[in-house]
Amino acid sequence: MTDYSKCSLTRFPAPVLSQRAEPVGEITDDIRCLADQMIDLMVETEGVGFAAPQAGVNLRMFVVSLDGTRENARVYINPEMEVFGPQIAHEEGCLSLPGIYTPISRYAKCKVSATDLAGNRFTEEAEGLLARALQHEYDHLEGVMIKDRMSRPAKIRARRQLKQLIDEFNAGSAS
Ligand code: NI
Repeated sequence: MTDYSKCSLTRFPAPVLSQRAEPVGEITDDIRCLADQMIDLMVETEGVGFAAPQAGVNLRMFVVSLDGTRENARVYINPEMEVFGPQIAHEEGCLSLPGIYTPISRYAKCKVSATDLAGNRFTEEAEGLLARALQHEYDHLEGVMIKDRMSRPAKIRARRQLKQLIDEFNAGSAS
């Protein structure tokens, strides 16, 4: 039994954000509690998606809600992703990398198969902002963040911000 209701937002460079997450086993009450907490954190921080590693939990699961509301939040457990079409660059941010907004190339379309909280497998085809959000959140499960996908000049521009996050993280873990 893990009390996921106490999870909070993790920021770069927390190690959990750069690890490949583990598959979710049975959909237990704990997993439902974690999904709830992830949706709360997404709504609080005004995000449109939230992956379990961002709650400090190394599991393959994320939530997406394009309008940032709880009502429209959809939970994706053990997702599999296929991508299609040309890549399009568009500005993205990440709750775990505050202060960084940078163009990221994503595929125009994708198809996700995942398990929902009732344990049912579903498939969803997406394009536009939804396709982008799904690819961003899926990346989190592979330990990949926008800092890993941004161009070299963008990374140089973000250097000070990344350094500040590292300093904040080290100050936090020291106290
Ligand atoms: Ni993110």
